[in-house]
Amino acid sequence: MDSQRNINLLEWYEVNQRDLPWRRSADPYAVLVSEVMLQQTQVSRAIPRFESFMSHWPTIASLAAATNPEVLAQWSGLGYNTRALRLRDAAMAIAESGWPTTPRDLQKLPGVGTYTANAIASMSFGAHVAATDTNLRRVLSRWFGAALNGVDLVEYADEVVGEPAGTWNQAVMDLGAEICTPKAPSCGRCPVSDSCADPTVYVPPVRQSKFDGSNRQLRGALVRASLAGDNLSDAGRSLGRSDAEIRHTIAALAAEGLVPFD
Ligand code: ADE
Repeated sequence: MDSQRNINLLEWYEVNQRDLPWRRSADPYAVLVSEVMLQQTQVSRAIPRFESFMSHWPTIASLAAATNPEVLAQWSGLGYNTRALRLRDAAMAIAESGWPTTPRDLQKLPGVGTYTANAIASMSFGAHVAATDTNLRRVLSRWFGAALNGVDLVEYADEVVGEPAGTWNQAVMDLGAEICTPKAPSCGRCPVSDSCADPTVYVPPVRQSKFDGSNRQLRGALVRASLAGDNLSDAGRSLGRSDAEIRHTIAALAAEGLVPFD
């Protein structure tokens, strides 16, 4: 028997769910691509990029055959370029050996962590697991009445996850995006306010380092320059970086396959 909270949540989702392109099928490939994009990119920006990526490489086999420069060009502007190469590497592993279907086996794929593995396992393979991203962490913390982290979050998520878990995960994501927002949740419109311990619980975000001046900024500029055929050292110097940092970063990018060795 599902809890009254889950019944209310799923009824609300049935009527109010966002129409997102990756929700139109349970195809694990579409779920994998969308979840990797959404690891660092907001939904509105990810939508057109997802559609273009999927029309470029409609199947696992087609992505598995893509080269580094092709994948990086398609990913351009999404940031965290290694994600794109790992996604292609995951496609190669799946094209070779088939889809893993459990969270534990999915996590063995390159670039697939606990969250993404649980999302794919629940949305495409019927596994009864919660996909605990930042949104879910905030919503569940409020239901529980205190900020949840680590093992506590996993244990509480296991306890409250509804069925089918794939739909439940998407419902919690939409509740978190539309109603149970970080700063001013709209509890008056919330379908599960009766079973929420404390909507004012503040869940500190996972800290991101400052982008300007970061090595990530330099890495992004060097990859873009390489794709455009520009001089890499000039691109680094225009950000005011030292020759030593530029050299070191180019070597690291080349070792990861993000720029060619010269
Ligand atoms: N954020 C992360 N995964 C998502 C998904 N599948 N739908 C909407 N937002 C998300």
